[in-house]
Amino acid sequence: MEATTLSSYLVTGGAGFIGANLTELLLTDSSNKVVIVDDLSMGLKRNIPKSDRVTFFEHSITDHDFMSKLLIDEHFDYIVLLAAIASVADSVERPYETHQVNQEANLSMLETLRVNKIPFKKLYFASSAAVYGDSPELPKKETMAVKPLTQYAVDKFATEREVLNYGRLYNMPVVCTRFFNVYGPKQNPKSPYSGVLSIMMDSLKDGKPFTFFGDGEQTRDFIYVGDVVKAIRGLVETPDARDDVFNVANGQQTTLNQVAAALENLTGKKLDATHKAPRLGDIRDSYADASKIDHFDFMQHTSLSEGLAKYVASVQDKA
Ligand code: NAD
Ligand code: UD1
Repeated sequence: MEATTLSSYLVTGGAGFIGANLTELLLTDSSNKVVIVDDLSMGLKRNIPKSDRVTFFEHSITDHDFMSKLLIDEHFDYIVLLAAIASVADSVERPYETHQVNQEANLSMLETLRVNKIPFKKLYFASSAAVYGDSPELPKKETMAVKPLTQYAVDKFATEREVLNYGRLYNMPVVCTRFFNVYGPKQNPKSPYSGVLSIMMDSLKDGKPFTFFGDGEQTRDFIYVGDVVKAIRGLVETPDARDDVFNVANGQQTTLNQVAAALENLTGKKLDATHKAPRLGDIRDSYADASKIDHFDFMQHTSLSEGLAKYVASVQDKA
């Protein structure tokens, strides 16, 4: 019998929200295996699917020697860089640590790949809508000038550029996305630095108070995690999708008050809401022109109402 060669993925941050959903999707193809590196600073061990095709290293990506050895020894087909201090507000509290994780550690991996001439099929990096900052021009388009207003945004933009420069200068196959606000199952709701929808959902579920930072009229472009992980898989597995950055969003502007009302409706519960001052570095309005990535067949758009219903059902299933 012919031996099957498995495609190997490295997913940094694979115990986190998007990384765990991605790993689950990748494993649906029996020819994929996944190595996860995550220090569990935000991710959860229970998020990692149990499979003999998953290897988990509880480790920080800031450990250059560890990451270099892994990249040299394993020769991954696909390298997916998701590990990060993912909260804008957290980065305002911990700017230097954010820089070490979100930028330096990724640059160090790029150097290892370059210096050791390690071949791979695609390297993917998750940048963010935060790079656009608070310029009044909406919707945000990839060609617009950036205005990174926090350490998080600065490091996302710097790393995105470094990834694209390594692609251009050293002929590496690379691709980046700028996600807008991702929601859905497996986001850690227990941290104040988690995504707003998971905190809101947790408050509704447990009858705990929820704090709006500001009046709740700030807007975001919410996208369902199932669509996001299909976009990542599509981009890494499409050879022509390279040397570029793509917005990943629904292209719909929604206020926090609107999503709160929708969740109240779906759960039949009322949010115990209070208001505090807006967070430092927070952006008031954000939504995307997502037409560039929509040229690919793999891009799907779950409507907000359908996505929120799926999310609520997944949380209620676990209760
Ligand atoms: P997350 O916090 O759930 O996942 C990030 C993972 O990285 C966590 O599991 C955390 O434990 C891990 N991590 C943090 N520091 C690490 C370190 N030093 N070494 C190893 N692992 C470390 O966040 P997420 O929402 O899944 O975000 C994934 C990526 O997508 C991040 O790079 C984030 O900046 C980016 N992104 C997310 C969104 C969103 O709305 N969720 C939007 C734009 C960009
Ligand atoms: C989010 C992502 C970030 C990503 C960016 C892209 C997280 C934690 N952050 O940042 O990785 O790069 O989208 O657009 O996933 N808020 C409250 N109450 C709360 C929590 C938040 O009112 O308890 C407010 C915030 O002040 C903000 C909005 O909700 O105005 C969204 O906050 P958050 O979910 O942290 O997302 P972003 O800061 O947009």
